[in-house]
Amino acid sequence: MGIDVQCQQDHSCVPLSEVATSNTHGEDSPYFAGWKAYDEDPYDAASNPAGVIQMGLAENQVSFDLLEKYLDQHPGASGWGCGISGFRENALFQDYHGLQTFRQEMATFMEQIREGRAKFDPERIVLTAGATAANELLTFILADPGDCLLIPTPYYPGFDRDLRWRTGVRIIPVHCSSSNGFQVTLQALEDAYVKTEGMKIRVRGLLLTNPSNPLGTAIARHVLEEVLDFVTQKDIHLISDEIYSGSVFSSDEFVSVAEIVEARGYKDCDRVHIVYSLSKDLGLPGFRVGAIYSYNDRVVTAARRMSSFTLVSSQTQRMLASMLADRGFTENYLKTNRERLKNRRDFITEGLKNAGIECLPGNAGLFCWMNLAPLLEEPTREGELRLWSLIVHEAKLNISPGSSCHCSEAGWFRVCFANMSQQTLEVALRRIKDFMKNMKAKQEK
Ligand SMILES: Cc1ncc(COP(=O)(O)O)c(C=O)c1O
Repeated sequence: MGIDVQCQQDHSCVPLSEVATSNTHGEDSPYFAGWKAYDEDPYDAASNPAGVIQMGLAENQVSFDLLEKYLDQHPGASGWGCGISGFRENALFQDYHGLQTFRQEMATFMEQIREGRAKFDPERIVLTAGATAANELLTFILADPGDCLLIPTPYYPGFDRDLRWRTGVRIIPVHCSSSNGFQVTLQALEDAYVKTEGMKIRVRGLLLTNPSNPLGTAIARHVLEEVLDFVTQKDIHLISDEIYSGSVFSSDEFVSVAEIVEARGYKDCDRVHIVYSLSKDLGLPGFRVGAIYSYNDRVVTAARRMSSFTLVSSQTQRMLASMLADRGFTENYLKTNRERLKNRRDFITEGLKNAGIECLPGNAGLFCWMNLAPLLEEPTREGELRLWSLIVHEAKLNISPGSSCHCSEAGWFRVCFANMSQQTLEVALRRIKDFMKNMKAKQEK
């Protein structure tokens, strides 16, 4: 959330840099305004049962018990290591390579998620403080201020901040449509590319989120193949943000770009870069652990140097290295987490269906993408935001409007379902049902 300290009198402020004062951080979007509404009046079953329920946060809390059980059974993992020497190892300066043992375990975990269908070399892993830092760092390396990255819509609202704000790089949306479940097509990519050329903006790369946030769907193999052919033909980079790869309900429904690169014998692989983090799959956004995996040696070297600004603490690396090294734990965690996410998703989509709301069929992630277009007074961004305001202030649910994800069709909303207890989810569903009943009654008048 943004910090709301404002200058008493703007005109008397000592001047700041253009970056500090630019609004490309995007924090004025409804995505963040909804978080504010939640912060001011947060739901609590006992102390504030009429408060706002936060359904705008893609956090995974469904498998905390498994992490807590591991830590209970392995108290050494989260401690300081063995006595004074363990403390000193954590406390003293680490260089930007990160701990070899941790990079090795991250590589193995990424392979495990893909059930061995792709290999990861720990020497190509650059550790960063979350995927946020990884995406920004890659943008700094691949593009110059004024250049652009193409991103299929709808996309994660945080990209507006992460990729644009400090880098000066632009985002050109590749508009996808509900007619094919918002899958990116070659035609949409070509259209965006041609438009960008017409604007005399240099395209440096394409960023895909696979599985997608906000759609909650994994990208099909043939689409990935086409995307890889497209970036090769245009001689641009491909960033594949795969931070939800362990949150696909059935592992064989996920195809990583790493599998395609390997199947092609690593041809043209130096334009391919994968972003990963433990924020979603392990539900640890507060630990700030992310990674860049690049097939390009120069990118790996530059990213390692730049990672000085965004390192992961040694204690965190040691703790997670020991957790990920426990194959019994990781196998059980991945399997159980997938099942629980699927159950959650089935529960909410079934409930929404009973309330007369259609969702995009999905197979991954911590959210679903629901269609409230039939409730709009007018099929525009303004109409969507009016409906969103009613949902936040009357139904007391913070969900994310599609326009904050740059969706080109009005009326879609992202609903997160894994950042709360099952009981809270049931309350949220009841509120949605009541809201729908009221809206229908109003429409019938
Ligand atoms: C697609 C995508 N990329 C990156 C991030 C940021 O992740 P992290 O917490 O690891 O910085 C998010 C978080 O919601 C996301 O959805």
